[in-house]
Amino acid sequence: MKKIIITGGAGFIGSHVVRRFVKSHPEYQIINLDKLTYAGNLANLKDIENEPNYKFVKGDIVDAQFIDELFGAEQPDAVIHLAAESHVDRSIANPLEFVMTNVVGTVNLLNAARYHWKGRYDETRFYHVSTDEVYGTLGEDGMFTEETPYDPHSPYSASKASSDHMVRAYQDTYGMNAVISNCSNNYGSYHFPEKLIPLSIHNIKQNKPIPIYGKGENVRDWLWVEDHARAIDVIFHNAKSGDTYNIGGHNEWQNIELIKLLCEIMDKKLGREAGTSAQLITYVTDRAGHDLRYAIDATKLKNELGWTPSITFEEGLEKTVEWYLANEEWLNDVTSGHYQQYYDEQYTNR
Ligand code: NAD
Ligand code: TYD
Repeated sequence: MKKIIITGGAGFIGSHVVRRFVKSHPEYQIINLDKLTYAGNLANLKDIENEPNYKFVKGDIVDAQFIDELFGAEQPDAVIHLAAESHVDRSIANPLEFVMTNVVGTVNLLNAARYHWKGRYDETRFYHVSTDEVYGTLGEDGMFTEETPYDPHSPYSASKASSDHMVRAYQDTYGMNAVISNCSNNYGSYHFPEKLIPLSIHNIKQNKPIPIYGKGENVRDWLWVEDHARAIDVIFHNAKSGDTYNIGGHNEWQNIELIKLLCEIMDKKLGREAGTSAQLITYVTDRAGHDLRYAIDATKLKNELGWTPSITFEEGLEKTVEWYLANEEWLNDVTSGHYQQYYDEQYTNR
């Protein structure tokens, strides 16, 4: 296997996956295909952008002709597909955009793969990176396993469930070599400050309110993004076609408890008196259709492929805070919108 297209590589998780594959697998040529939406930031990959086994291609997966031509020109051997609209609140405001990118975009990639890989499915691989949110919500007990029936609630999770079903359909119908993983909430560096953890870090720094939806009792199962990237590497190389794996860190936190821990860490790192940041906690109107609890059972991944998380949440959260405090320029560029010029500044004049 020689050439891999990684879609959404300029985003949060995608940039960690691209970095890992470029650095750990010099035997592959990595093509990062990304539209550079508001969530795509090429500055996330500054440290590897000149590596000889890395190339960036700007493009939209919703454009079927462009995708077909890219496959024709590059003749990739595999796709690791992360490009997506990923924020639940945005999906509530604009569901169609999520259908276009997450469903239609995925089918465009599958069609190109089906056409260009015909007769060599055993040497190729389509890896779809998905979410645990496709399983819907848990009550107080239980965990999502690979056998949990899909029951998505938000437009985001419904679009990801649809794309998972399409990937499975191409595997079942055409015999395409396809793999899916469903991961819990990620956190870590290069996370766009609209999601709970980076938004809260940013607001605490600025002394702005930390918005907590509803009573803050919803539970999420958090995984350090570099552990997710490592899991994708392990699954990509070892899964059988048709396999699905859940990825998670057995690391459940109620939103309010997580934010209290974050406030304690921020007080220490910023040299503020204990309790200062927690005063910024502000309860706001709940998210519509807010899933109560997610929890992943990743036993299959551990038993079959030997993957386990490498760090605890407390360690990971502290590292994450340290990263955001040390990378003020990145955060300022993202919040001011300057990051959207990075492509023009670095790429169009080459
Ligand atoms: P992100 O929003 O940070 O990044 C998405 C990337 O996709 C961006 O670089 C964006 O420019 C690109 N993109 C969007 N629309 C595109 C299009 N039409 N064509 C080409 N590129 C496009 O997302 P993320 O949090 O890094 O998530 C990556 C993937 O992992 C998604 O598929 C998401 O569903 C999945 N996932 C995310 C989490 C999480 O906690 N963030 C957890 C499990 C699974
Ligand atoms: P988020 O980071 O948006 O991820 P997801 O919706 O995919 O789980 O939200 C994580 C949890 O935090 C979720 O229960 C919603 C809640 N939340 C807040 O309470 N306040 C916020 O400002 C945000 C963005 C999320």
